[in-house]
Amino acid sequence: MRDKNKTSRSRENGFTGKSDSWFDEERYNRPKLNANFDEAKQHDYYYNSYSSHHIHEEMLKDSNRTLAYQRAIEGNPEDFKDKVVLDIGCGTGILSIFAARAGAKHVYAIDNAEIALFAKEIIHDNNLSDKITVIKGKIEEVDLPFKEGEIDIIVSEWMGYFLLYESMLDCVLWARDKFLNKETGKMLPDRATMYVAAIEDAEYMGEKTQFWKNVYGVNMSCMTNGIFVDPMVDTVPSSNIMSDSCCILDLDLVHMKPGDVEFANCYSLKMQYTDKVHALVAWFDTSFANLTRPTVLTTSPMKKYTHWK
Ligand SMILES: C[S@@+](CC[C@H](N)C(=O)[O-])C[C@H]1O[C@@H](n2cnc3c(N)ncnc32)[C@H](O)[C@@H]1O
Repeated sequence: MRDKNKTSRSRENGFTGKSDSWFDEERYNRPKLNANFDEAKQHDYYYNSYSSHHIHEEMLKDSNRTLAYQRAIEGNPEDFKDKVVLDIGCGTGILSIFAARAGAKHVYAIDNAEIALFAKEIIHDNNLSDKITVIKGKIEEVDLPFKEGEIDIIVSEWMGYFLLYESMLDCVLWARDKFLNKETGKMLPDRATMYVAAIEDAEYMGEKTQFWKNVYGVNMSCMTNGIFVDPMVDTVPSSNIMSDSCCILDLDLVHMKPGDVEFANCYSLKMQYTDKVHALVAWFDTSFANLTRPTVLTTSPMKKYTHWK
């Protein structure tokens, strides 16, 4: 559901022997047998998925995520008092409601999915209709009732898997450059960092391989090719981490340009013990630093589970 940038791919073949045998470039680059959706259908699919209750329930129930935003917003009433706030991709309106409760002068809540209609109802039912204006449409396309540079704070939960996978960061940056007050405006979050570490997980790999060997008596072993080539989204027990971690991307969301997400970086990992490296795990943190009481949302395997896994 969140898709865009491709992540690095790895294939488990033991990582023994010469390094040029670790990756099969030809195989990585081979076209996949994916259904060929055109762009318009993908666009509809994206917004349709955000129109379902289920996805918003999952995000709201991710208490690590939602409480981090609540800490950043309601925990900092000094920063929100009398401010004009823009909530990009408001979903159910939860972040707008936090901002209104934190004392914002007015909040503009925008979402292109049908969920915007529910946001309007939720905001009405919570007696905040005079403080929050809900607008349904794409931020880049819809007519907006405020002027350029008039927004004091942009709040958005735009992060996708692997931070950038189908993320909506581009439209957040577009709105930042157009509507945020250039001198005093704040971005929430204002920094995003991505990390990588090596893991050992023979049990997980073994389970995956075993499953496809015998599916109701049918040998589907060829399916294991995909699982070792494509990135996986899953939880990783912290005990499986066998190296230190390395920061591979550090985005300053206040000053960065959209193209900065296209990155290549060198990193080195120091192993804590000798074993086979089965995979690299990547995760991200987002910071809410420029506030009276700064806070961080982390998706690290060392911390509590989030819906980003
Ligand atoms: C990850 S959800 C966050 C929902 C809500 N803010 C929350 O924290 O629960 C992102 C939302 O952004 C909306 N969205 C994505 N791109 C958008 C755009 N360009 N204009 C308006 N809404 C957008 C999606 O429809 C989706 O509801």
